This record gives sequence, C-alpha cells and structure tokens, in this order.
Amino acid sequence: MSVQYQIPFEEQLKDCQQHVNDKLLAIFSSLPFLNSPLDTAMQYGAVLGGKRLRPFLVYSVGEMFGYGKKSLDAAALAIECIHAYSLIHDDLPAMDNDDLRRGQPACHIKFGESQAILAGDALQSLAFEILSRQEMPDVALSDRLEMVAELASSSGFAGMCGGQSLDLEAEGKQIDLALLEQIHKHKTGALIRAAVRLGAYSAGHRGREVLPLLDQYAQAIGLAFQIHDDILDVVGNTEVIGKRQGNDQQLGKSTYPALLGLEQAQQKARDLYEEAIAALAELEKQSYNTTNLKKLANFIIERNN
Ligand code: IPE
Ligand code: IPE
Ligand code: MG
Ligand code: MG
Ligand code: MG
Repeated sequence: MSVQYQIPFEEQLKDCQQHVNDKLLAIFSSLPFLNSPLDTAMQYGAVLGGKRLRPFLVYSVGEMFGYGKKSLDAAALAIECIHAYSLIHDDLPAMDNDDLRRGQPACHIKFGESQAILAGDALQSLAFEILSRQEMPDVALSDRLEMVAELASSSGFAGMCGGQSLDLEAEGKQIDLALLEQIHKHKTGALIRAAVRLGAYSAGHRGREVLPLLDQYAQAIGLAFQIHDDILDVVGNTEVIGKRQGNDQQLGKSTYPALLGLEQAQQKARDLYEEAIAALAELEKQSYNTTNLKKLANFIIERNN
C-alpha cells in the first residue's frame, strides 16, 4: 500500500490549499503594486478560500509522472488565477448577480463593479505571466508553450468563456440535455481538463502518451463537478456552500436537477464517476499510481461545498 493511501484526502487537500495560498501570496507580494483598490480586489478574489481542486489536479497528474511541486507550481497557480477571475466575473450583476462567494461578500460587493471587472482581467493576465515566466525546473520550453496554448484555449471562446456565454443565453429557456451538456463541458469542464493536461504536459512525451485516458478521466469529472455544483444549489446550505443556495432556480438557469430531477442528476454524476474510475483503471494497468485522482473523483460527487 502506498503512503498516499494513509493520508486522509481532506488533509491532503488542506495541505494543497495552504501551499497554493502561500505561493499566491508570495507572488502578490512580489508585484509592483500601487496600493490601488485593484491590488486588494485581486488578492481578495484569489486568496480568500477556495477548494483549490484545479491545482490539486495539476499536482496529482504531474506527480504520477514523478514531477515535484516545484516543476508544477507555475501551472497550478496559473490555472487557479484563471479560475478566480472566472468566479469574480461570474458573480457580477450582468452575469449571475451573486452577492456571496466563499462565504464572503462577492468581489464586486466589496470593491464595486468596475474594480471587480478589472480584478478579473488582471488575474487573467497574471495567469499567463506566471505560466510563461515562473521557474519550472525539468520542464522543456516547448512543453511550457503547449501549456500556455492549452490555458488560453480552455479559458477562451472555445472553453470557459464560450460556455459562460451559452449558460447566460439559456437562462429562462427550455433547452435539451445535449445543449446543457455542452454548456457544462465548456464553462466548467474545459478548465478542469486543462488542469489535467497541464500536469501531463509537464512530463513531455510520457504525458502525451496517456493523454487520451487522462482526457477521458478529466471530461468525466469535469461534467460531474458541474452537475454536483447544480445539485448543491438545490440541496446545499448557504452557510456550507458559501454561496446563495437557490440562485440557479431564481435565475431560471438550465441545470441538471432542473432538467432531469434531483435523483437522475445524482445518478448521472455517479455514472460519470464510474467512467472516470474506468479510465484510471487503464492507467493503473500501465503502472501509474492514480490514488489521488481516484480520491478526487469521489470527493467531486460527495462534497458538501
Ligand atoms: C465553482 O468552482 C464554480 C464552478 C465551476 C462550479 P469551485 O467549487 O471549484 O470553487 P472554489 O474555488 O472551491 O470556491
Ligand atoms: C460557473 O458556474 C462556472 C464558471 C465558469 C465560473 P456557476 O455559475 O454554477 O458557478 P457558481 O455556482 O456561481 O460557483
Ligand atoms: Mg454562472
Ligand atoms: Mg454562478
Ligand atoms: Mg453553480
């Protein structure tokens, strides 16, 4: 039995959260800040809370290939900055109009809309600065370039932004399951798959060899993640989820529980979990240790926040 088995998942995740927070704070403290509201708003959006699941994915996949945190930090932090930017913008009145995020006032509530928009913009730029400039020992430049391209395409029009656009367009409308799946795969799944891919690209050709299996895993957990997020909006508790429960229904959002009912949505998430585990089983056959990825898949469909 590997050592990883003996560390409870929650503890591993906590360590990852601490690590990411420390690294992000170090980056923020090294920036030539102007003490403008923008500085504070960016840090607020990026550092206060967050499960850090995307960095956890980058580290877990990279570690599968024997890479340590030092080689993976830039990718992990860059993707978290993109995620933080997406949340700040997602909460804006023009989008989901949410006033609560991670149990605190949303960025635009705290700093005003204009500063929140800029904080999101600046976090997006920072992500690419980190990924292209920060030290990445043992990772070839050509692989780093591939990572930059992956982060760009997964967060842009063909990924997260495209999905967010469709999500907003679908508000108050009756859409079919195929479209809903596309929305979720883009607005949320794309960045989750990017986290897995960045971990794989750090390992060069070895990572690319098993990319189809990693993609299969990532696509399954990515969709399961958003379905479970939809479910938490129905059955969750505002105090625990740190965002207003029931907001999706109030906005007339197209969600899995709204379209399929709660039970079928839960079943769909479990089916996707099984798909993810099947992909990992193939990787295990090739002697990769997928313990952390397995635990994460389980956490994604069991979590209460
Ligand atoms: C929330 O993501 C937004 C979605 C894609 C559903 P997370 O649930 O990962 O948010 P934090 O970072 O933990 O707050
Ligand atoms: C957001 O999905 C996905 C993003 C790209 C941020 P949601 O709108 O469901 O996320 P929450 O529930 O506000 O965190
Ligand atoms: Mg949204
Ligand atoms: Mg939202
Ligand atoms: Mg949601």
